[in-house]
Amino acid sequence: MALIQELDTGTPIRVADSMVTLTIDGEAVSVPAGTSVMAAASLMGTKIPKLCATDSLEPFGSCRLCLVEIEGRRGTPASCTTVAEPGMAVRTQTPKLAKLRRGVMELYISDHPLTCLTCSANGDCELQDMAGAVGLREVRYGYAGENHLDAPTDASNPYFTFESSKCIVCNRCVRACEEVQGTFALTIDGRGFASKVSPGGTDFFGSECVSCGACVQACPTATLNEKSVIVMGKPEHSAVTTCAYCGVGCSFKAEMQGDKVVRMVPFKHGKANDGHSCVKGRFAYGYATHKDRITKPMIREKITDPWREVTWPEAIERAASEFKRIQASYGREAVGGITSSRCTNEESYLVQKLIRAGFGNNNVDTCARVCHSPTGYGLKVTVGTSAGTQDFASVAESDVILVIGANPTDGHPVFGSRMKKRLRAGAKLIVADPRRTDIVRSPHVEADYHLQLMPGTNVALINALAHVVVTEGLIDEDYVRARCDLRDFEVWARFVAEARNSPEASEDLTGVPAADMRAAARLYATGGKAAIYYGLGVTEHSQGSTMVMGMANLAMATGNIGRPGVGVNPLRGQNNVQGACDMGSFPHELPGYRHVSDDATREMFESLWGVPLQNEPGLRIPNMLDEAVQGRFKGIYIQGEDPAQSDPDTQHVTAGLRAMECVVVQDLFLNETAKYAHVFLPGASFLEKDGTFTNAERRISRVRKVMPPLAGYADWEVTCLLSEALGYPMRYAHPADIMDEVARLTPTFAGVSYAKLDELGSIQWPCNEAAPNGTPMMHVDRFVRGLGKFMITEFVPTEERTGARFPLILTTGRILSQYNVGAQTRRTENSRWHEEDVLEIHPFDAEVRGIVEGDLVSLESRSGDISIKARISERMQPGVVYTTFHHAKTGANVITTDYSDWATNCPEYKVTAVQVRRTNRPSDWQAKFYEEDFSLTRIAAARLDAAE
Ligand code: SF4
Ligand code: SF4
Ligand code: SF4
Ligand code: FES
Repeated sequence: MALIQELDTGTPIRVADSMVTLTIDGEAVSVPAGTSVMAAASLMGTKIPKLCATDSLEPFGSCRLCLVEIEGRRGTPASCTTVAEPGMAVRTQTPKLAKLRRGVMELYISDHPLTCLTCSANGDCELQDMAGAVGLREVRYGYAGENHLDAPTDASNPYFTFESSKCIVCNRCVRACEEVQGTFALTIDGRGFASKVSPGGTDFFGSECVSCGACVQACPTATLNEKSVIVMGKPEHSAVTTCAYCGVGCSFKAEMQGDKVVRMVPFKHGKANDGHSCVKGRFAYGYATHKDRITKPMIREKITDPWREVTWPEAIERAASEFKRIQASYGREAVGGITSSRCTNEESYLVQKLIRAGFGNNNVDTCARVCHSPTGYGLKVTVGTSAGTQDFASVAESDVILVIGANPTDGHPVFGSRMKKRLRAGAKLIVADPRRTDIVRSPHVEADYHLQLMPGTNVALINALAHVVVTEGLIDEDYVRARCDLRDFEVWARFVAEARNSPEASEDLTGVPAADMRAAARLYATGGKAAIYYGLGVTEHSQGSTMVMGMANLAMATGNIGRPGVGVNPLRGQNNVQGACDMGSFPHELPGYRHVSDDATREMFESLWGVPLQNEPGLRIPNMLDEAVQGRFKGIYIQGEDPAQSDPDTQHVTAGLRAMECVVVQDLFLNETAKYAHVFLPGASFLEKDGTFTNAERRISRVRKVMPPLAGYADWEVTCLLSEALGYPMRYAHPADIMDEVARLTPTFAGVSYAKLDELGSIQWPCNEAAPNGTPMMHVDRFVRGLGKFMITEFVPTEERTGARFPLILTTGRILSQYNVGAQTRRTENSRWHEEDVLEIHPFDAEVRGIVEGDLVSLESRSGDISIKARISERMQPGVVYTTFHHAKTGANVITTDYSDWATNCPEYKVTAVQVRRTNRPSDWQAKFYEEDFSLTRIAAARLDAAE
């Protein structure tokens, strides 16, 4: 394997309807109109020297190295800022140009440390390359005069350094931070000789920098450089793989030395990210080799016993014999399993296959139950498919962007940057969120309307927006007539037109001024191409599914589905939550969202799998736990999930786990759920296996193995071993074979294969005979279900009510640097940005309780109480408090309730009635947690001692 090198055309290749043809050094080349001379030359293989240009940025024209001669024009224009014109005759190599370029380089090098041989970028430095390219042999100016050679180094960022003595002030970093990332953390301070890059007058760590790495990527010298490269040296080979964090699904080159990762570099051809990254995928991969990784299988009789390391065969045999014993004693339905949204498609497919065919029941579920199951339900009912309608690139064509219950700059940062780019270019923005998230106001972005609604009133809000659209004649009648079920439409239109759904009637309920709702609705309906992006602030409610249908109704009524720039798009949380759902992880659906009661589908699976399948849906996660508490559900196989931390009402979850006789946990670390496990099977990280992930835009991308599994097996291999021991052999030579089986059984995946993924880079399903290269946009001429179906979306207030005892509403969310339950990011330097979860509380609510910044407060709900530090924040509205749930010791889910979405059981994480008081001690739950965690640490230490 070699190091993958990507072409840098210097400036972007434009997208245009027309082409222009010019000649460069006598050779004709045609490029899209608007493309620069530099990029045109690059496309024909001619490299014009450059320093301030790179193709992820707009041309800047500062270094004067890329000069060319153009017939009929005076002087030597910069090729990066000169647009190719028809008939232009360009010369890139003449004695005059060579002399000018050498002169420019001489000046740069005369103020640059000549430590190339010992520099961390030696051999990977554009300045060094350019000195060679222009034939610089000597520098006439000495170092006696003023220079920058003693300029300081800023090493405050945990992942990269800023060695300013090497800076050539090319501005690429500043522009990357503005144009690509949209954070505007960097500026050039001073003028002329004194000009220097500054992260806002402080160090990098203390600045606005979000550590996305775009500036490091753009820097042509070793000024901004990864610390891992400084320590380890240059990588020697690389493979393209997919980030294992969020549902954006960014492509990265894993750049390696042997089987050690030197750095993760965003892949320019990755269609989900276009070469951009965030701090998690770019830098926070150290968890994969963290010392906490468990690499030996372990078993124990009782959950109070210490763990005992055993061989793989012994662990597999224990798990299989326990599942068989339980089924023999308590019946076939007494066991089940949970697939993982962190694992690959192939692995989720195998776990659900093991449960349906090996256990012989449909008791399989996945963590989408607790996040986006309402998306699956709501979009399937209204438009016919359980997935977002657009590709990410579509946002570049939106005129109006409606963000509901999503925090893209923290939760889906690379897509957030794309969205901000479009907003800076002029698209209008409406944000519906109880909290003032960053997207509401950030540099050069400001929401036209921030509908700061009370948690739990989404449906009232969407009905009010729809009311305006219907009653003010803003319906796209031609679209509705051509594409939707008219009877359903008329019933819906009459419903939303009722006065009780008007903005004025909803004002008190939602807390949003009626005038703002009216104006926002008008903007959405009449502002051009309007797109909805939404997140867990929509789904994790008792009416999550209703709200998804409400958004689909609004989009259909205004003709905003089925073309670029529009759509209804879930920003899905985990890296493979879409894929886990696609692969049949729900108890009622086989892969491809086909109901288990469908005889023809079931027969197809039965014939290939060689066993009869049940035609009734199995148990969902909450039902499994309920049944366990009731003594009827006794064993579970959990791959790569941590319900004891991530699911609501922790006491109920742990009571369920505690009541089981065999809990098998497969994970990288001893997570919270493992405290209740009898068998622990070590998991493999995304670097240790082959497979695919599917992101929020239905894009299937390859995950490539770059190091052997630390514990000896990839997760899919362990599932096969377990299945074989259960008496249902599943044999595959490679995950490619598993994908071939998925393709044979699933019409939307029929055209997917590893060979095609290698050829195309990635594929958006459906991919089949009708769409051999995949489907970037859905519902183009007709909805997948035929006619779009409008659904009645009656607002029903949640049963979780505030009152004298619990007067505030708690809502939860995520932060950029941490990820979900934090199992990965807490084991990286990312924790320096977020060492603990805090409770954000409005100054008014804090003051009446005598709470000041940093106070320890007790946060109590009907389910339980925890202690947490307070942060006074005007991002909140009075009456609403907010926390993240990244740290297990916080126990945020100790206080969430078991209320859930009526259709899918997705928990109502976003609305919990609470009281907040000052306290001076940890809660009882936390005290117990610390005690258990301490004993767990002691057990692990004893195990390590024994191993030594
Ligand atoms: S830090 Fe790098 S990218 Fe930024 S101005 Fe200096 S040399 Fe250019
Ligand atoms: S790492 Fe990202 S946010 Fe930080 S300065 Fe560089 S480009 Fe800006
Ligand atoms: S945006 Fe998501 S997928 Fe992309 S690098 Fe960050 S965490 Fe990974
Ligand atoms: S690359 Fe054109 S002026 Fe710097």
